[in-house]
Amino acid sequence: TGKVALDIGFVNTASCTSEITYIDGDAGILRYRGYPIDQLAGKASFLEVSYLLIYGELPTADQLAEFDSQIRRHTLLHEDLKQFFKGFPRDAHPMPVLSSAVSALSTFYQDSLDPFDQQHVEISTLRLLAKLPTIAAYAYKKSVGQPFLYPDNSLGLVENFLRMTFGFPAEPYEADPDLVKALDMLFVLHADHEQNCSTSTVRLVGSSHANLFASVSAGINALFGPLHGGANQSVLEMLESIRRDGGDIPSFVNRVKNKEPGVKLMGFGHRVYKNYDPRAAIVKQTADTVLDKLGGNNELLDLARQLEEIALSDDYFVERKLYPNVDFYTGLIYQAMGFPTRMFTVLFALGRLPGWIAQWREMIADPTTKIGRPRQIYTGATERAFVPLDAR
Ligand code: CMC
Repeated sequence: TGKVALDIGFVNTASCTSEITYIDGDAGILRYRGYPIDQLAGKASFLEVSYLLIYGELPTADQLAEFDSQIRRHTLLHEDLKQFFKGFPRDAHPMPVLSSAVSALSTFYQDSLDPFDQQHVEISTLRLLAKLPTIAAYAYKKSVGQPFLYPDNSLGLVENFLRMTFGFPAEPYEADPDLVKALDMLFVLHADHEQNCSTSTVRLVGSSHANLFASVSAGINALFGPLHGGANQSVLEMLESIRRDGGDIPSFVNRVKNKEPGVKLMGFGHRVYKNYDPRAAIVKQTADTVLDKLGGNNELLDLARQLEEIALSDDYFVERKLYPNVDFYTGLIYQAMGFPTRMFTVLFALGRLPGWIAQWREMIADPTTKIGRPRQIYTGATERAFVPLDAR
């Protein structure tokens, strides 16, 4: 094998250097550009955190106002892009709809896709930040057969998204400020997480000098999987199935421990955190207050709490250092907010977008970047002679 090292799943291999996000998995620490996540969550807005991740510093009030107004200018989708949504089956999962529409942005802005032109990168960044909430809302509207709403640019990013999602064209819609605050905070918690599967995908695709939209579209598809962002949907489905089975948590936990195929404790475990996921700790606190306020499903929340308690005192989970991750409690909050289960991973994507953009930009700006091209250890047949079809 020469000098090629085998590292399945890149457990011990760094693919890049980065100045964006720091994680200490043993201590349960997460920082964006040096700021601890618990200092940002609830204090800095999603827009501020997006600016921080992408440009490296917290914005001044003027910088934030300018960033906000730039984004508001780009929330509209091209009318032709709106036609895309009609082509999907009515029951289409919104995640592939999201990635398809983002991919399609490459066709609408063909004259500003050069990754090495700073103005092109800036405008693509703003377009993507502004348009993803619109695309996400339309993916939802399509799935429920309701009319699309134009963005209302008097509103901030999160309010605008909620209005386009839950509002109706002729009716006034005012989002509950507590709901806006909670969703904004959840987006902050999801905003970056260094070289996770989707972010690595964004970088790998971008390393071939593919444009920002193409790279982020690939990241959305990576996020869709249940071991990654799709876990928030799977957690709720798991809790619902436990409830259907009479709430028998010990028997479910036994199935997990016996490693029944396809049975895992979803929302538990993490490649890097071997201690409580700091994001999960914040989400868990939020779940209580949000569910009380919005009248969410307390039965499922109780089940989740019991499940966590049983798992955390069980040797199987203790030995493997398996703790709840960010996806364990978020779904319950999203459900209380009125989102259907299938929108949960879309919400993750909306939150993760600034991280994807920041990481793609860092990679493109780094002169030491090379195309991502892992090696392999070949285990197939050694050389053999071809046998013609009539002799086989
Ligand atoms: N339930 C039961 N057993 C588990 C779980 C789980 N959720 N996670 C890991 N294990 C076991 C695993 O079977 C293995 O056991 P053994 O040593 O006996 O073979 C051991 O713990 C180590 O796990 P691993 O599979 O080697 O860990 P990994 O780093 O490859 O996988 C993970 C990390 C997040 C994919 C995994 O923990 C998992 O599948 N969790 C459930 C899905 C989930 O919640 N994903 C969201 C991750 S956080 C946010 C995000 O990225 O979206």
